[in-house]
Amino acid sequence: MLRKLVSMNILLIGSGGREHALAWKMKQSPLCDRLFCAPGNGGINDVAEHVELDINDHRAVAAFAKGNEIGLVVVGPEAPLVDGIADVLNEVGVRVFGPCAKAAQLEGSKGFTKDICAKYNIPTAAYGRFGDKQAALEYLASQSAPIVVKADGLAAGKGVIMAQTMDEAKTAIEDIFGGLFGDAGAEVVIEEWLIGEEASFFALCDGETAIPMATAQDHKRVGEGDTGPNTGGMGAYSPAPVMTEQMCQRTMDEIILPTVKAMNDMGAPFKGVFFAGLMITEKGPELIEYNVRFGDPECQTLMMRMDDDLVELLVACADGDLAGREIKWRDETALCVVMAANGYPASYEKGSVIGNLDEAASDGDVEIFHAGTAKSDGVVTAIGGRVLNVTALGSTENGSSDNNSSDSGSSDSGSSVYVAKEKAYDAVEKVNWPGGFYRRDIGWRAIEREKQEG
Ligand code: AMP
Ligand code: GLY
Repeated sequence: MLRKLVSMNILLIGSGGREHALAWKMKQSPLCDRLFCAPGNGGINDVAEHVELDINDHRAVAAFAKGNEIGLVVVGPEAPLVDGIADVLNEVGVRVFGPCAKAAQLEGSKGFTKDICAKYNIPTAAYGRFGDKQAALEYLASQSAPIVVKADGLAAGKGVIMAQTMDEAKTAIEDIFGGLFGDAGAEVVIEEWLIGEEASFFALCDGETAIPMATAQDHKRVGEGDTGPNTGGMGAYSPAPVMTEQMCQRTMDEIILPTVKAMNDMGAPFKGVFFAGLMITEKGPELIEYNVRFGDPECQTLMMRMDDDLVELLVACADGDLAGREIKWRDETALCVVMAANGYPASYEKGSVIGNLDEAASDGDVEIFHAGTAKSDGVVTAIGGRVLNVTALGSTENGSSDNNSSDSGSSDSGSSVYVAKEKAYDAVEKVNWPGGFYRRDIGWRAIEREKQEG
């Protein structure tokens, strides 16, 4: 039953472009009174009140929430969730959006997720899971290359080795057990290399009920044409054309809903957002991995497209009140171009000055979300690797912005990916930041597909 909510103070945890987009969207809700953020960044601090809080000190976060009549804590990144921030907040009766530590193991341990897939028949790559080097090497000998070797735990996106040869796979196993990823490498998962197109699928869950959100695709590699080292993500767009209505339905039925059941069976109901990394193979959607928070920069594109009250939805997740809801989305494509500091993802300089941001974001369909920035006396400087997320909505003259709960990539959104890309890059070019760089081909796959489908 949908309840009438009263407005509340909100505390947002995080400092990335994802959190800036969440803050921007929450601030539009009539349910949001004061919005606080820790640690925040140069952009978030314009929308939210900055709070000096150590986000790893969960008791301090709980005390702040109690002391400031916080009606909702929204946790952006995965590390505090895996460390149990939601458990501490639940314990003291503070409403929180984000799963408890046990449910966050879906991201915290690849082996944990693979075992659930095996038990609940969720389509995923065949795998072996090992806490011992010898056993891992023996399993490897029974497989063939190419093959994927992963450190089990959180390794900041670096713990996955796509091994083209058996020798590379063997070295990866030795490196991981040798401590290359620290504690994250106490176990190793070895899995089949899946072939297909990757896509991200997001669904909200209140413990019992899961409802689909939207789809996206990101660009992980630093270089144009998807080349060079992996990064946290150099750009993204939503929806992902490969995720037709039928693929979305299959993802819900074959992957998300069995996971909801698994977590309940385990006594750890999942409350928060499922971010399923999928490979669309010739058999259909297969799960590569789960994240238990919004993607960054995928979230920026989702927030631009959401035509609904984010605060109401996040509260419904926390309160077990999602049943009967459907989220409204704009049909248009949203596309985000990440501007990063020269040198990223290797070492990069800090402190370069960024100018002309207001003019760059003057188009009503463009938002510039900040990631690694600081602002002092009105001057914005770069202090991180990924620094700005220039995000545009591809409104076309004929493009419909009708409410539409499906996220299947209709023909309207087809033409709008091109417009979103043009608008985003027009804005990027106006940003005055010699200390940064960006990829010029964000969205290429969606645009190619559109050309092929004519
Ligand atoms: P993960 O950190 O698990 O998301 O892996 C990072 C990236 O590695 C994914 O986005 C995929 O591009 C790739 N990857 C991971 N596992 C597989 C797999 N089994 N088959 C093919 N690609 C994979
Ligand atoms: N963009 C990928 C992630 O947030 O993990």
